[in-house]
Amino acid sequence: MPLKISVIGLGYLGATHAAAMAELGFEVIGIDVVPAKVELLSRGLSPMYEPGLEEILRQHVTGLPGSTGRLSFTTSFEEVAAFADVHFVCVNTPQRAGEYACDMSYFDSAVDSLAPHLDRPALVVGKSTVPVGSAARLARRVAELAPAGEAAELAWNPEFLQEGFAVRDTLHPDRIVVGVTSERAEAVLREVYATPIAEGSPFVVTDLPTAELVKTAANAFLATKISFINAMAEVCEVAEGDVVKLAEALGHDERIGPKFLRSGIGFGGGCLPKDLRAFFARAGELGASEALQFLREVDSLNMRRRASMVALTRDALGGSLLGRRVAVLGAAFKPETDDVRDSPALNIAGQLHLQGAEVSVYDPKAVVNARAVFPTLRYTESAIEAARGAHVVLHLTEWREFQELDPAALGEVVSRRHILDGRNTLDASLWRKADWTYRALGRPTA
Ligand code: UGA
Repeated sequence: MPLKISVIGLGYLGATHAAAMAELGFEVIGIDVVPAKVELLSRGLSPMYEPGLEEILRQHVTGLPGSTGRLSFTTSFEEVAAFADVHFVCVNTPQRAGEYACDMSYFDSAVDSLAPHLDRPALVVGKSTVPVGSAARLARRVAELAPAGEAAELAWNPEFLQEGFAVRDTLHPDRIVVGVTSERAEAVLREVYATPIAEGSPFVVTDLPTAELVKTAANAFLATKISFINAMAEVCEVAEGDVVKLAEALGHDERIGPKFLRSGIGFGGGCLPKDLRAFFARAGELGASEALQFLREVDSLNMRRRASMVALTRDALGGSLLGRRVAVLGAAFKPETDDVRDSPALNIAGQLHLQGAEVSVYDPKAVVNARAVFPTLRYTESAIEAARGAHVVLHLTEWREFQELDPAALGEVVSRRHILDGRNTLDASLWRKADWTYRALGRPTA
């Protein structure tokens, strides 16, 4: 009998994992405590913007014309426990309000809702990013609560997908990491991933804490790489160097590599910033805070980028923001997503607004989410509309649409042709040719 799968928590990670598992041929049930999400997904619609996701949903969601019917959704844990042999837990593990530590309450409550219904052998697989040590605690909790006792096991299988590439990353992962405490759990996870599409990915088997740590360490490393190049940008600013050229030259060294060396206003999103903080908070609890002391610097360097962008804007406006019109291009924390969690772009727009500027924001996909977080900003339907009458234009999320903007056309509607590139991805010479003053962090002024 082929394994049946459940996916608990249907955000960016869970919705994509459920769809991908159906695509790989499994029968899948997805569950979320938010009925509106379940309702949308049951109609083959994605609750968030994620390229390619709706196409897969439409192919597999039960009841849709021409679908395989392999994927269904519910809000009932009882149904999920009766249906599936393997339960992937993909719920949110955000930063605790007012603290650095991770909020495990959604994860704990998912386990507490599922486990009492597990009356036959089952494998609960954690995928969310959690403080090291959580898996061992949760394994005890599952065995304690499940009527099946020790036959209800827990394993850890961290997920490394990037928003915007979630479908690609789930179907073609760089590596599959599983933390297990029994041969049976390993065999079940090998069966899940022994599919033609996931074939060829390295399969790393380890213990529970190492599996948890692989994920936190990977995100901490990526954050460190970004803050490293942003530190170099700060040095370039005083030394009159060009951080973009520096990154290009560094990236040719195979040991360093070109990826995650894009300098600018720093990293945001629902993962890197909070995972970094949760990691050093957890290290402190375990008595290893010295080992991760440098990650505090990675975090503060990153937050300083936002302040530097605000300062550069003030400077471009002659020292005061009061009553000046600022156009902000981008609200999402990065392109190809509508996610605005801890978005540097939206944070900068908000700071400028609070300091007295009249801010107009345009984003191709994230306006609805941005408005919910920051309702007092003005949102527009296009870049041109945001730029109308602006004294300065800020490029803060590097959507392709912004790389293709016509500087001459935009120049027709602004009050002053002044652009600040917070992502170092616009073609400076093109803008300067069209009589714009182009400035960026870590780059020479002309
Ligand atoms: C990140 C990791 O890259 C994934 O591997 C991980 O699975 C995920 O977190 C997670 O923990 O779930 P994601 O948050 O989707 O993925 O975003 P990234 O593509 O990593 O970008 C994070 C931030 O760094 C963005 O604000 C982006 O603009 C910024 N960034 C990225 C830079 O400033 N410079 C770069 O060179 C790269």
